[in-house]
Amino acid sequence: SWTTGNVIEEQVAAIREQVGTKRAICGLSGGVDSAVAAALVQKAIGSQLTCVYVDHGLMRKGETEQVEKDFVAATGVQLKVVDAQERFLTALAGVSDPEEKRKIIGREFIRVFEQAQAEIVAESAGTGEDVAFLVQGTLYPDIVESGGGTGTANIKSHHNVGGLPEDLEFELVEPLRQLFKDEVRMVGQELGLPEEIVQRQPFPGPGLGIRIVGEVTKERLDLLREADAIAREELTAAGLDREIWQCPVVLLADVRSVGVQGDGRTYGHPIVLRPVSSEDAMTADWTRMPYDVLAKISTRITNEVADVNRVVLDVTSKPPGTIEWE
Ligand code: XMP
Repeated sequence: SWTTGNVIEEQVAAIREQVGTKRAICGLSGGVDSAVAAALVQKAIGSQLTCVYVDHGLMRKGETEQVEKDFVAATGVQLKVVDAQERFLTALAGVSDPEEKRKIIGREFIRVFEQAQAEIVAESAGTGEDVAFLVQGTLYPDIVESGGGTGTANIKSHHNVGGLPEDLEFELVEPLRQLFKDEVRMVGQELGLPEEIVQRQPFPGPGLGIRIVGEVTKERLDLLREADAIAREELTAAGLDREIWQCPVVLLADVRSVGVQGDGRTYGHPIVLRPVSSEDAMTADWTRMPYDVLAKISTRITNEVADVNRVVLDVTSKPPGTIEWE
């Protein structure tokens, strides 16, 4: 019968068999799938695994620390954190178009990740324990959606790392490929991962970069991070984390409105709350959440976040609105 204990035992044996004495790399995104895949592989092969986490500076408050501290504490994994904040900010400077932002963030992410990967490969070259495997948190629905089949990841090395082959061939390790999301969460829990990682709501890869309507700057990211942290804290305190699928918090950086705060007139930015209920993110409805929780979030954000003088609620379903604003 299916138990998380059996799944873990089977996968640990299978990973050991597949990887042998070679080494593996796993990219961590901060999301559930990559975290559970990494924890499972770590349990199987320990120090033969190195994880890579790219900090693009578009994460929410506490997320990078969660990976750096809590995930490492729970798993003992070897982690390489690449601080790429400057690089992403520079690449995004002057860009307001959502699709262009996405392209830039995706491109820079792959470059930074591959560079880190190449460094790990180079460090281990000639030790007889080559890096031959790439761990991915592919789930069963991902495989079904993409028409089935696994294979090798062909990582094109367009960076000049001396002595590396033009194309590095990694074999994939996909320990979650028979599981659904809720099963992945149970496995993660059984492996001792922190609740905040295991029960994490969906968050887009481009992060806060696509939650600032307008140009992405360090100041705006910091401001949005504060507002988002307040909203998340209050939603959690109100026990709404399960009812709400996700709640994007959006900064309308190009919009200003007049307000009055303290003894003076302000001319600040609005923050949008976008709480949605959904089964699969394909369609969604705006969550009819309690007014008193909305009031608390609004009061706290306007009091605590400089330059924000208005909080508005998005009451649009998907369709016609998407969940994210960009
Ligand atoms: P939309 O805005 O299209 O979002 O209704 C549907 C779901 O996908 C997430 N999302 C993304 N996830 N990269 C991601 O990894 C992206 O570029 C991206 N855009 C949207 C969104 O948060 C929601 O869960």
